[in-house]
Amino acid sequence: MPGESFLAIGTTRRELLRFLFASPLFPLMAASDADAEGENQELIATASDAINVFDFRPVAEHKLAPAHYTYLSMGVEHEITLNANREAFAKIALRPRRLVDVRHLDTGREILGTKLSSPLVLAPVGSQRMYHPEAELAVARAARRKDHLQILSMGASVPLEDVVEARQGSIWYQLYAQRIWPVTRQVLKRAEAAGCPAIVLTVDIVGLPTNRERIDRFRRAENPECQSCHASAGQWLLQGAERIAGAIGVDARAMIARSMMLDWELVDRIRDATPLKLIIKGILTAEDAHLCVEHGIDGIIVSNHGGRAEDSGLATIEILPEIVGAVSERIPILVDSGFRRGTDVFKALALGASAVCVGRPYLWGLAAFGEVGVEAVLTILRRELETIMRQMGTPTLGAITPAFVQSSAAVEAE
Ligand code: FNR
Repeated sequence: MPGESFLAIGTTRRELLRFLFASPLFPLMAASDADAEGENQELIATASDAINVFDFRPVAEHKLAPAHYTYLSMGVEHEITLNANREAFAKIALRPRRLVDVRHLDTGREILGTKLSSPLVLAPVGSQRMYHPEAELAVARAARRKDHLQILSMGASVPLEDVVEARQGSIWYQLYAQRIWPVTRQVLKRAEAAGCPAIVLTVDIVGLPTNRERIDRFRRAENPECQSCHASAGQWLLQGAERIAGAIGVDARAMIARSMMLDWELVDRIRDATPLKLIIKGILTAEDAHLCVEHGIDGIIVSNHGGRAEDSGLATIEILPEIVGAVSERIPILVDSGFRRGTDVFKALALGASAVCVGRPYLWGLAAFGEVGVEAVLTILRRELETIMRQMGTPTLGAITPAFVQSSAAVEAE
């Protein structure tokens, strides 16, 4: 076959791409979704080579153990929610205003007493040693240099106190609450002692197991003992639970799985037990948003866990207006899941979010180039947000209102 001999003479990938660029089919190929999301790109050699955050993804895939990359990228079941998170942004169009003085841009905002120089927040992601030996410390140092809020997962591979020291600024601490009250109380006390101003209570993983089929398939094929190579709070929890469970003669994993089934009674108990701000992450309906306000919750993160909670859901950017409407400015609303572009962030701000959390993009940066990779991801997202703020004629975050977006569904209905 001509293709085989073409490759057989040792043509490099670069030469192959040059050949493809010269092809009359190139405009069609270049317009594909895969290219736009970085699927077909060459591997960049340094963080500063990146043009957008998608440039880090293939490098992360190349460098990580397949099990670790699979764990990072997967959703659940058919990954409908995972894909919806990305696809929904294309259904929202921007309505730019012209001739506005945007020489001085201000992306600052204060949320629940924490001053942010940018509305881009690092979402809590567990076990980051899986992606780089410096793990959450590298992320904290990048967050410090670029001045971004970091939410640290309770499943972090580095102790909270060390991350706080590396960040030298406010960190919000994410909690997977346990019905075993002494465990939850101890985590709250630890966060208070470490100087965290806020607890982010994640409520969208209800018991175990979850339907994470891609990693299950991997386990069946290769049986990697992931938990044995990086200590995490999950392991610490399991060891503690094993001691209690052993004493009373029940299975520790089953005890933890049941212990993760939360309700509003436990939320109230947490609310009463800590003076810290309490934010609930994983809210997806107006009904639950109302309950958050009723139960004295300080903030909400609209999140479907990056498509990792349940399948067949809407994108969070589609759900956001429902939650904003329900809460009507009584508490701040953050959002995450699928945000990869400054324009994505702009759309969320226009629809009423106070800030946007990103997950996988900074892990791609971490896996690809460590601390400088995380820093580069933040720099790119920040630059893209500032570019779109200029283009839209919105010099401050406060100037970004629903008038700057229009859903294409509404246009079709007209
Ligand atoms: C997560 N997420 C998460 N959330 C949380 O509250 N505690 C955690 O420990 C984790 N761990 C975690 C691991 C991995 C590998 C991923 C991808 C995600 C969810 C995370 O905070 C956030 O909601 C999503 O990552 C946002 O979606 P994107 O930006 O990754 O699409």
